[in-house]
Amino acid sequence: MMDQAEALRKKLASMNDDNHPKTIAVISGKGGVGKSNLSLNFSIALSNYGKKVLLFDMDIGMGNIDILMGITAHHTIADLFEDNLTINDIIIKGTEGIDYIAGGNGLPNLFKLDDKKTEYLIDQLQLVLNEYDFVLFDMGAGMTEENVKFLMAMDEIFVITTPEPTSITDAYSAIKYICLFDQSIPMYLVVNRAENESDGLQTLKRLRQAVLQFLVKEVKILGVLLDDRTVQRAVSHQKPFLLYAPKAGISKNLLEICNKYLEKNNEQKLIRNQHISFISKLQRFFVRGR
Ligand SMILES: Nc1ncnc2c1ncn2[C@@H]1O[C@H](COP(=O)(O)OP(=O)(O)O)[C@@H](O)[C@H]1O
Ligand SMILES: [Mg+2]
Repeated sequence: MMDQAEALRKKLASMNDDNHPKTIAVISGKGGVGKSNLSLNFSIALSNYGKKVLLFDMDIGMGNIDILMGITAHHTIADLFEDNLTINDIIIKGTEGIDYIAGGNGLPNLFKLDDKKTEYLIDQLQLVLNEYDFVLFDMGAGMTEENVKFLMAMDEIFVITTPEPTSITDAYSAIKYICLFDQSIPMYLVVNRAENESDGLQTLKRLRQAVLQFLVKEVKILGVLLDDRTVQRAVSHQKPFLLYAPKAGISKNLLEICNKYLEKNNEQKLIRNQHISFISKLQRFFVRGR
C-alpha cells in the first residue's frame, strides 16, 4: 500500500523544483461544511494574487462547482475514462480567472476511482501540471480507501470543519484515517462558519492539540472563516462569493487567509532554496577540496 502511495507522490513531485505546482486536496469528514465554496473561492483568491490555478471537482458524480459558478460544463472527469478524452479536452479554460475540471452530477455511486483510474488520472495530470502554480482538488465527503490513496499523491491537505462537535469529530477521524496511510503528509486546518474569530481559533487549537496528542501528528492552522449570509446569497445567485460581494466580510476574510498562506508558502520555498544552496555549496566545497 505504502509503496504504491509513495510511487504516486513521486510521480507528481518528479519536477520537484520551484516550477513544481503545489497540489492541494480539500477534504472534510462531514459533508456540507463548505468544502466546495472554500475550494472555489480559495482558487479565485490565489488567482487574484497572480497565481495560475486548476480546480478539480473530485466529488465525481455529485460535483457542484459548476453550479456555484453558474456555468454548464460540457465535459466532466468521467469523460476522461469513458470517452478516452485527454485532460486538455476536459479542462474548462479561464472561467473566473481559474481553469476548472467538472465532477459531473447525476451519477451518485456509479463512479469508483480505482487504482487503474487513479494512475491514469495522475498520468494525465502530469501533462498539464507545468502550466499551473496550484492545483486544487475539491474531494467528495467521507473517506474511502480509494480517496485516501489519491490523497497520498498530494503535496498538502486542507481539512475543513465547522465548529459543530459532529463535524470536528469527523474531521479528526478523517485525519486519523489518512495518518494510517501516511503520517508525514502536510495538513492545514480551516474552521468554517465560526461565530467569531476567537471561538473559531479555539476550535482549531483544540483539534490541533487532539491530533498532536493522540495521533502524534503536527498540523498547521490555516484560518477561521466566519458564518456569513453572503455565502448563501452568492450560492443562490450562482456566483462565487468573492465575485458576488468582494467587499463582504467573508471575502476579505478569505483573501487574508489566502495571503497568509502564500506568505508561509514563500517562506518554505526560501528555506528550501537556502537548503539547496547550502547543499550545492557543500558539494562545491568537497569537489574543490579533492
Ligand atoms: N461561511 C459560511 N457562512 C454561511 N453559510 C455557509 C458558509 N459556508 C458554507 N455555507 C453554507 O453551506 C452550504 C454548503 O456548502 P458547500 O461548500 O457546498 O459544502 P460542501 O462542499 O462541504 O458540501 C452552502 O450552500 C451555504 O449555504
Ligand atoms: Mg461539495
